Amino acid sequence: MPEPTTLTNDKVMARFQEALDRRGLVITPGAIEDDPTPDEPGHPEYHRRQRATVALSRWETATPRRYRQATVTHPQVTAWADRAISDFDTAGALLLFGSIGTGKTHQAYGALRRIAEAGLPHYSLIATTAADMHGNLRVHPGSPQHDIEHELTRYCRVPLLFIDDIDVFKPSETTEQNLFRLLNERYNEMRPMIMTSNLLVRDPDGGPDLAAALGDRITSRLSQIATVVPITGADRRPEFR
Ligand SMILES: Nc1ncnc2c1ncn2[C@@H]1O[C@H](COP(=O)(O)OP(=O)(O)O)[C@@H](O)[C@H]1O
Ligand SMILES: [Mg+2]
Repeated sequence: MPEPTTLTNDKVMARFQEALDRRGLVITPGAIEDDPTPDEPGHPEYHRRQRATVALSRWETATPRRYRQATVTHPQVTAWADRAISDFDTAGALLLFGSIGTGKTHQAYGALRRIAEAGLPHYSLIATTAADMHGNLRVHPGSPQHDIEHELTRYCRVPLLFIDDIDVFKPSETTEQNLFRLLNERYNEMRPMIMTSNLLVRDPDGGPDLAAALGDRITSRLSQIATVVPITGADRRPEFR
């Protein structure tokens, strides 16, 4: 076997030292400050910021333009988002209800943004209206390859799900079954979700309520699993004159 060649030898090192001396340069080995700063890879804060950047771009893609400036301001909605940030598994479901234009959708997108900004691992979300979701979970006669089970699984498994206007769709046995399966699986697997509705869960005066719109089975599951927050105030939508 050939002798390994070395890149240097004492003579070369001596010449190197002479050159340094001629220039008055002193090189002394010492401790190297190589702990990464928050701006450098290796520091946890650097990686949190990287995850937050990715999460925010996912949030932006999922968010309709009207709500891209949304920030959460409602104290109970903020508290729920913070719970999801500190312990994703125990946040559970959040149901915002209130009359039209009070800012339910705005608060929901704001909460989803706040969670994105925290830079949790594996942030991804689906934001949909109930009408679009149930439409997607119907047979598509023109696309025989449209796989309803696969779509339902996506809604069940995505880390964060937002269903806007949970009661606005044409009810049928299939929609009830899909919604029940969805709520159940997300509850069992401890995946957080946000829902909004214009309706009270149960109206004591017998007015229109979620129990009437979604059926008793779904409503009682919902009231078991959801933190229900009323969003009150005036209609924020500009009036038509
Ligand atoms: N806190 C807020 N700051 C600024 N604009 C808001 C705020 N809350 C709601 N809006 C705006 O008011 C309008 C109605 O809010 P939205 O969330 O759509 O109401 P809801 O879902 O309760 O019907 C939207 O145009 C929304 O962008
Ligand atoms: Mg809305």
